Parts: sequence; structure tokens; C-alpha cells
Amino acid sequence: MLILGIETSCDETGVAIIDDSRKVHADMVLSQVKDHEIFGGVVPEIAARAHLDHLDKLILACLKKANIQGTNLDGVAAVCGPGLIGGVMVGMMTGKAMAASLNKPFLAVNHLEAHLLSPRLIEDIAFPYLVLLVSGGHSQILLVRGIGRYELWATTRDDAAGECFDKAAKLMGLPYPGGPNLEKFAARCKNPEKALVQFPFSIPMEHSGDMDFSFSGLKTAIRNQVDRMAVNNTLPEDDLACLAFSFQDIIARTLAQRSLMAMKKFRSLFSQPAPAFVVCGGVAANKTIRHSLQAACEKETFKFMAPPLEYCTDNGAMVAWAGIELLKEGRVSELNVRARPRWPLEEMTQ
Ligand code: KG4
Ligand code: ZN
Repeated sequence: MLILGIETSCDETGVAIIDDSRKVHADMVLSQVKDHEIFGGVVPEIAARAHLDHLDKLILACLKKANIQGTNLDGVAAVCGPGLIGGVMVGMMTGKAMAASLNKPFLAVNHLEAHLLSPRLIEDIAFPYLVLLVSGGHSQILLVRGIGRYELWATTRDDAAGECFDKAAKLMGLPYPGGPNLEKFAARCKNPEKALVQFPFSIPMEHSGDMDFSFSGLKTAIRNQVDRMAVNNTLPEDDLACLAFSFQDIIARTLAQRSLMAMKKFRSLFSQPAPAFVVCGGVAANKTIRHSLQAACEKETFKFMAPPLEYCTDNGAMVAWAGIELLKEGRVSELNVRARPRWPLEEMTQ
């Protein structure tokens, strides 16, 4: 089963061709970082136009690299939401047009679903498993019972974790994209122990009783610290790196604390000996966060799983893989399926 997958929901144009034995025949991602960086964030209209400019060439390049004809494909998968609607429409309409002209099935992929199934592209993971999905738009804990059977256990009450990274980075004067640049900058903190004392943060809503996240207060705390630190409109770089370190540390501890709660809940429902805990989405690329989640998994004897770094941020491979999972289940879409700016995962459950 050979599927071509298309990702255009944000600022990466991704195309990949994958088969059901997990062989990656081609996988290309074109980042739009350069197009957006002068604006300090993703501009939806520019993103949509850039997808339009590049997508067809990227599809042709992937077919060439994989050395196959479109007629050899068993289906075309494209993200139909959630995401920036202009970009989603470019990818979805291109996917539909390909599927229609080749007379192949069209697989409408939910972007979040592509993220949470992405570790199964690397190895088989038994259902049910737990997922922490942390990206620019979402911070969720989900129970994955099977394909299309997702239960939302926790979400954010305000900003997403990635959004918080991006906003904190901007306040610190770091370039776009914020998350990876803040991680690099935090590594320059010379005295981590002192940083945690100098800039103490606590886990937001630690004792709320549920697993929901809240990150907007943290952003405000960073703004206050930055304002306090500024001398003659310049920021002392050493202190700023320590602030970044402490900020990253509290996000990592928050995600681990909430994940531990979810693992305990999972244990009360299922008796699997070593269930999987999956972290995915762009923020899962962060090494400090990966380490703290790994430690949480060891504590609760969960198997820690994270996609390789290139499959954490948006890419076509995860979409092609989700397409394979959907096609195997017979979940083929009609060509009149809509593009959706919002598409909660619970709405997929049949
Ligand atoms: O999954 P993704 O590529 O796109 C969305 O679906 O949102 O996630 C992008 C988010 C951005 O907020 C970005 O700053 C964050 O993931 N991110 C990181 C790192 N790499 C990407 N955040 C922290 N550390 C990183 N290394
Ligand atoms: Zn994403």
C-alpha cells in the first residue's frame, strides 16, 4: 500500500510517499521560516501563497525521488484541518485533484491525528496508549483507543505550550521561530542551579485537581521579568539565558507533572504491563522536555516514545502514515469533505 501525504496546515509544505511496511520512499519539507521571520510569526496569507507556489513542484520532486508514477499510488492523503484555512485549502484541493484524476481514494487527515499516530510510523505501538500532544496550537493529553478513537483527557485553558515558547522567545528578543531558538539560548545559561533560584516559577494550576494546562500566566511572568531586567533598553545576556533556562525548566516540569497524573489514571483503567506514552508535536523536539517526560515514564513504568526530531515538527510523512492507517480501516473520504480551521479530535470518533 503506497500513499502520498500532503501537509500544508501551517508554515511547512510537506510531501512524502510511504508504504505500509513503513518504508519511506520520499519525504520532503520546505520550510517558510525565511518568508515569515521579518514579521516575527506566521502570516496566514503569505503561508497560503507559499504553499500554492511550491506544492506541485514538491509533489513532482517526491514522485521522481521515489521513482514512481502517480498511477502506482494506492491513495492520496492530505490534511483537511485544523490549521490556517488558506494553506489547508491549498493542500486539500491539490490532494483531491490528484486523487480524482488518478481515480484513487482520498484520505482526509486531521493534522492532530497525524501527529499522534506518527510514532507508529517508526514501530508498532499497541492500543490503547497515552499521548501528550504539544504544538504551536495545542497542548493536549489524549487516550488513543484505536484509529479514530480518541479521548481528550486534558487541554489548555489558554495558550498552547509552543505558543508560550514562541511568545516568551519574542519577549526575550530572540528570533522566530521561538521554540528552537529559546532552547538553544537556554543552553547558554552558565549556572542552572542559580537560575532556578534567581527566576523561580511554579507549575501553573498545580493543585487544580484536573490535568488541564494554563500557560498564559507564565508568559506574563516572563514579560515582568524582562521589563525588570532591562537597563537602558538593553538586556543583560547572561541573565536572559538563565531566564530562558528557568522558563524551559518549568514547562518541562509542568508537562511531566500532568503526564504523571494521566499515567496514574491510565493505570486505574487498564492493566497493560508496559503501556506506551507518546509525546508528539513541535514542542516534543525539545530535549529538556523529552528528558523530563522520560523520567516520568520510568517512574510509572510506561514505555517512553517520541518520534524522531524530523517527525516532531510538521511534515508530510506523518500525513502519509495517517493515510495508510485510515485506508487500512476503510475510512476513505468523499471528495466533498470540507477544509476545517477547527477540527477537534473527539469529533472523529465514530
Ligand atoms: O507541530 P508544529 O510544527 O506545528 C503546529 O502544529 O503548531 O509545532 C510548532 C511549535 C512552535 O510553537 C515551535 O516554537 C515549537 O513547536 N517548537 C519547539 C521546539 N521546536 C519546535 N518548542 C520548544 N523547543 C523546541 N526545540
Ligand atoms: Zn503540527
